[in-house]
Amino acid sequence: MMLEQLDRNSRIGVFDSGLGGLSVLNRAIELLPEEKFMYFADVDNVPYGDKTREQIVKYVDEAAGYMIEKGCKALVIACNSATSAGVSFLREKYDFLPVIGIEPAVKPAIAASVADKRVLVTATPVTIEGEKLKKLIEEYDRDSIVDKLPLPELAMMAEKELFEPEIVVPYLKEKLSGLDTSMYDFIVLGCTHFPFFSDSFKAILPGVRLIDGSDGTARYLKAMLEKYDITSLGDTFEQGKKVVYVKSGREVTDKQEIERIEGLNERWRKLSGLCD
Ligand code: DGL
Repeated sequence: MMLEQLDRNSRIGVFDSGLGGLSVLNRAIELLPEEKFMYFADVDNVPYGDKTREQIVKYVDEAAGYMIEKGCKALVIACNSATSAGVSFLREKYDFLPVIGIEPAVKPAIAASVADKRVLVTATPVTIEGEKLKKLIEEYDRDSIVDKLPLPELAMMAEKELFEPEIVVPYLKEKLSGLDTSMYDFIVLGCTHFPFFSDSFKAILPGVRLIDGSDGTARYLKAMLEKYDITSLGDTFEQGKKVVYVKSGREVTDKQEIERIEGLNERWRKLSGLCD
């Protein structure tokens, strides 16, 4: 692809299969208050967790094409499943702009874990079974303290806003029933939808620390904007909305839909203190 001029006043494109990536968007807004964003939720194709890698690559390519067409200066794949399947493809195809992926926070969890305790990585099936997570664990898990647990239904529970502990707690208890949970210091929330359930994770496992990849991703985004010298100077901040929301290529303008998204942003702000 040809080298294109990137405009520091353009938006940063943040992309997920659905609304889970709002957890990353909000972290990025906290860290980069001068920036403007486009949030792309591929709601027509959610969930990605049970799709083939080939299908996911096709979806991320379409979403990236849309955001670049709209002039985004950087792309954040705020989806562990899409990063696992498609980040290499995107970086190769769109090599003129920074493409930032997210990965389960395995490395910081291992580094901060207390002696004799273990780390449990939770994610969608496609992330859990992926080569990327396997390599990440091989690289950092020197003492074999990491276990993996797929939670296939949780992302769609977030899409349907099924957050009530009466529904979520029994689901999580059932999934965790085969494990001795007293062994764990950390649970890695390796899907961007999962931080929306931090209250239920904490209700079941009060002594276990939760960690997600949003902080590392936001910090890496900031570093990449600096490296490419495309950090916004904030002088066009008043022009246009802070975040433009898009659902599978259709800009969200409906007031009720915007309110629904704002409600999820609010939920994230309320719960974000529960994650390390
Ligand atoms: N939010 C996504 C992730 O981080 C995927 C959820 C899904 O679509 O299955 O993995």
